[in-house]
Amino acid sequence: MSRRVIRFGVIGCGLMGKEFASAAARWLHLEGVEFEPRIVAVCDANPAASEWFQRQVPSVERVYSDYKQLLADPDVEAVYCAVPHNLHAQIYVDIISAGKHLLGEKPFGIDKEANERINEALAAHPEVVVRCSSEFPFFPGAQQIIQWVGEGKFGRIIEVEAGFWHSSDLDPTKPINWKRRIATNGEYGCMGDLGMHVLHLPMRFGWKPNSVRALLSKIVSERPDGKGDTVPCETWDNAILACDVKTRDQQFPMVLSTKRIAPGHANTWFLRIQGTEMSAEYSTKNPKQVSSLPYSPGKQQAWHTVDVPYKSAYGTITGGIFEFGFSDSILQMWAAFCDELVNGKAGMRQPFFCATPEEALGSHLLFTAALESERTGQTAAIDWRD
Ligand SMILES: NC(=O)c1ccc[n+]([C@@H]2O[C@H](COP(=O)([O-])OP(=O)(O)OC[C@H]3O[C@@H](n4cnc5c(N)ncnc54)[C@H](O)[C@@H]3O)[C@@H](O)[C@H]2O)c1
Repeated sequence: MSRRVIRFGVIGCGLMGKEFASAAARWLHLEGVEFEPRIVAVCDANPAASEWFQRQVPSVERVYSDYKQLLADPDVEAVYCAVPHNLHAQIYVDIISAGKHLLGEKPFGIDKEANERINEALAAHPEVVVRCSSEFPFFPGAQQIIQWVGEGKFGRIIEVEAGFWHSSDLDPTKPINWKRRIATNGEYGCMGDLGMHVLHLPMRFGWKPNSVRALLSKIVSERPDGKGDTVPCETWDNAILACDVKTRDQQFPMVLSTKRIAPGHANTWFLRIQGTEMSAEYSTKNPKQVSSLPYSPGKQQAWHTVDVPYKSAYGTITGGIFEFGFSDSILQMWAAFCDELVNGKAGMRQPFFCATPEEALGSHLLFTAALESERTGQTAAIDWRD
């Protein structure tokens, strides 16, 4: 089968830029896909970061230190951009205006105003495919829950809980980095950093919060600066958002949480749905296991926990008896982005497409309201026509 090669440029060669390089290098893991990404150009402001690509990624032909040079490169048709949040708006707008397709990292702008600038550029360039990075829904356990929601298995929703929890910031000796500063990470703090992961599926299911009461905490107030001093730690460490969801035919509470300081948790992404006809839970803490509790009136209430097989959205060489992990979810997300880029949303080989700019906008409406709720101590309304 001849494959359609998509020529990518990477802007931001740090942690996530490398994850994309690893996924692209492991493309042979996928079966039955007729498209593949090829990273031909990279750009980072720090030469040490792009040097890694020069050493490790043989397809890289050009290395730039100014992203505008990469955007002027006619050989680059699509861009992955993984830079600090304060740079999202300007660089994403320039990528879109250059007519390049974009998979951009969350939160898609440091704040709501930055996100609006990106959406304005997108409105002026509907020809480019623009998606927001969010990989956890590609875990087979999450895919199972997506299928159940699509089939309406839950009956009337009683309540929903979703979260993304980390614990590395529990260590007060961990030096500060850009993700703990308002100027680079944004006032949203842990919500901007982790929140799109939590909101992706609720948004996809149409569960838009009507209002939010936020409890935001700053737990570690200062950190070493790595140069012998301590500096204030400015961003919110943890957020608990109590949301009231109103859909066309249902109303239910949804509690979303993003935590940098959740003792014992490392990259724990979870979703719990309780319904009158079925309840279900999935957490990457036990990545193989999905629990469900089907219910018929008067019958027993019993949880069933199964080890879900390695059954990913896109087929792979891995046998069903093996385990799925973080880097597999990144590979699946990239397959979905490349599939949509080549075949269009309607022609994709499987139906689950990457997070959209509209879904990212939804996260900004919620987080902006959450900041207002924290300031006033009141519940804040969210106007989805905004
Ligand atoms: N999807 C996920 O699971 C996930 C995980 C971590 C981070 N992220 C997101 O990815 C993005 C980047 O995070 P990271 O952890 O890779 O950060 P990082 O600090 O490891 O990498 C960012 C890179 O951007 C470079 N950079 C800074 N300014 C630049 C400029 N003007 N031009 C080009 N390069 C520039 C830096 O030198 C650095 O190499 C953020 O939006 C973050 O929220 C996503």
